[in-house]
Amino acid sequence: MTRRFDPAPLDPAEVHQLLDLARRAPSAGYSQGVHFLALSGAALAGFWRTTGADEWFAEVQGGVLQAPVVVLPLADPVAYTSRYSEGDKAGHGLERAENWEVPFWLTDAAMATQNLLLLAQDRGLGALYFGIFRNARAALDELGVPGHVLQVGAVALGYRAADDAPSGSARTRPRRDPVDVIHRDRW
Ligand SMILES: Cc1cc2nc3c(=O)[nH]c(=O)nc-3n(C[C@H](O)[C@H](O)[C@H](O)COP(=O)(O)O)c2cc1C
Repeated sequence: MTRRFDPAPLDPAEVHQLLDLARRAPSAGYSQGVHFLALSGAALAGFWRTTGADEWFAEVQGGVLQAPVVVLPLADPVAYTSRYSEGDKAGHGLERAENWEVPFWLTDAAMATQNLLLLAQDRGLGALYFGIFRNARAALDELGVPGHVLQVGAVALGYRAADDAPSGSARTRPRRDPVDVIHRDRW
């Protein structure tokens, strides 16, 4: 994760290309209910303001606020409940969101988001996935996102600052040992 960005803008065509590639992730029933909303300029300023994330980052990781673009991956549960009402998928009660053991709209959104992180890395760009902890719905409303469509966090995107260095929890916590997380035949 990059937490110090260079404020240089990204080419909107490059952002579009990244998002078009990132959306080619696995999708349950090929429902494709994942959307990306790319924010820059005034829209991004409004997002920072409404969520209060600008105050948080200014205190702890000011370099994040230099990112020229923040992408909101968004999940539309209705795309999934509709798709799973169709003949080849019906019969499991999945036309109702509350019946899903695993909400695949969130799974799909996470997979597409990981694609975006990998693509950014591949292109030599910096990216940070971060959570939106305050006023997320208000921010989505301001941006015209339909009320049933859910946020799953945000991805700051841009060029890495020259002085970007590893930061965040991975600096203070070791990677867990494989024997603690990889299980064979039985947990
Ligand atoms: C679900 C999730 C939420 C995260 N939220 C934040 C966040 O709000 N702020 C932040 O700086 N990093 C956040 N991260 C990044 C993690 O801190 C980071 O991935 C982890 O420490 C490993 O570091 P690395 O990705 O740089 O290797 C989040 C990562 C995930 C997967």
